[in-house]
Amino acid sequence: MKFKKNILCIGAGYVGGPSMAMIAYKCPDCRVTVVDINPARIDAWNSAELPVYEPGLDEIIKKTRGKNLFFAKDIENKIKENDIIFVSVNTPTKTFGTGAGMAADLQFLEKTARQILEHSQSPKIVIEKSTLPVKTALAMERILASAKGKITFEVLSNPEFMAEGTAMADLEKPDRVLIGSRQTESGLKARAELVDIYARWVPAEKIIISNIWSSELSKLVANAFLAQRVSSINSISALCEKTDADISEVARAVGMDSRVGSKFLKAGIGFGGSCFKKDILNLVYLCSYYGLQEVADYWESVVKINEYQQDRFIASILGSMFNTLAGKKICILGFSFKADTGDTRESPAIYIARKLLAEHAQVVISDPKALKNAAIDLASDKGKITYIEDPYSAASGCHALAILTDWELYRKLDFQKIYKSMVQPAFIFDGRNIIDHKKCFDIGFNVYPIGKPALSRFEDQSSV
Ligand code: NAD
Ligand code: UGA
Repeated sequence: MKFKKNILCIGAGYVGGPSMAMIAYKCPDCRVTVVDINPARIDAWNSAELPVYEPGLDEIIKKTRGKNLFFAKDIENKIKENDIIFVSVNTPTKTFGTGAGMAADLQFLEKTARQILEHSQSPKIVIEKSTLPVKTALAMERILASAKGKITFEVLSNPEFMAEGTAMADLEKPDRVLIGSRQTESGLKARAELVDIYARWVPAEKIIISNIWSSELSKLVANAFLAQRVSSINSISALCEKTDADISEVARAVGMDSRVGSKFLKAGIGFGGSCFKKDILNLVYLCSYYGLQEVADYWESVVKINEYQQDRFIASILGSMFNTLAGKKICILGFSFKADTGDTRESPAIYIARKLLAEHAQVVISDPKALKNAAIDLASDKGKITYIEDPYSAASGCHALAILTDWELYRKLDFQKIYKSMVQPAFIFDGRNIIDHKKCFDIGFNVYPIGKPALSRFEDQSSV
């Protein structure tokens, strides 16, 4: 079959896989190919067990794979065969050299640009889908321009705003699709090609265009604003615990102001995930680079509050369990950074588990989708760690439960049954405020929510 457009995506990760599956699904007249330098990842995309757990993804893959969606390993040929190339490689925080711990590591992006340059035999539209520091397109253009006029490349910015766990719904009904381009004739033409793809299913008013730098910067700023809301509500949760105010009531009252809005005001153990921290640090680094130290400090505080929230949670466990955890068994319910994903990158659970192990607690980890990743994350940590998927078996014989992920299944657990199988006095630390605290207290638990008065049978000994 002859396809109208041939689209390639370099990088078959959490973004590349789902976003290209959606394009293939919505554009049956386009051939979409996804490549990766990691052959195991491509094998997994071609197997029954996809490398990414995302509600609704399986169905879309079943409908498209082998028809107009392909996962392939020969990057070289695929670059040759396709005209539109999305770049969705990882852009983690740099761990070495200048900007270590803050700046984005652009080595994978640069390698990709060089691969595109080396193997292209015809003009290409190259689309930045990865999250990048503002002005990266300039570097990309400079690398691609070294083709010395033989082949033309047009670089566009089209950042991805999907969230894990809701990726398919976000991709199908995005709040907006942002496309940044150069304002040249060829830039506008390339932009029109990309608009044409999204216009198949995204309403015209939701496809927004901008200059290329605004597009790159908007992605970092969008994440910084979202993370800032989480840190703002978490900072107030600390004050609630001191004053008998209830963070859920405060969040509801504040969020009902339409100028504020109700989303992203759930207090918890702090944000995790592969992007918020890295993107804010990237923004902080950019501000420092441009000499805007006050602005850098302002955004860095969002990350600091996030770390403070996790430390507070651990202090609460230690303080309320009589200041010693040595030899006690703590059951961690949920290890992924949020519900409906198996992703544990930057999950607060990693930090919390490590702190518990440092107190010589025995840690039992339960999660419906993230146990494999949890075992990898903690592979080199010393101490007694066990992994048990079934929450009832995991909780049995434990002194405390720490709820770290907002999985729906934890709301519905039979806490009476769990209580009976635990060592007394039994504790629950609800790091996500998802269970019925009063009911659990009445069963016999000592219950410690976030930003609400503790329901405890003991004097307040915690240092929170
Ligand atoms: P990921 O690590 O899951 O996937 C990136 C993939 O790129 C990996 O499989 C890696 O092997 C591959 N890769 C790296 N260099 C390559 C090369 N030279 N050639 C071919 N393949 C190469 O990362 P991700 O979570 O999909 O994120 C990708 C980008 O999208 C990042 O910039 C991230 O900030 C951004 N983003 C992520 C999300 C999210 O929810 N995860 C959402 C929006 C934006
Ligand atoms: C986030 C953004 O929401 C996406 O728009 C963006 O595309 C993506 O980052 C990215 O660039 O990678 P994601 O990290 O997948 O998506 O998940 P979120 O739903 O944003 O949750 C992030 C963290 O904040 C989670 O740990 C979550 O539990 C926490 N959170 C979120 C709260 O603690 N409270 C809230 O009210 C909301």
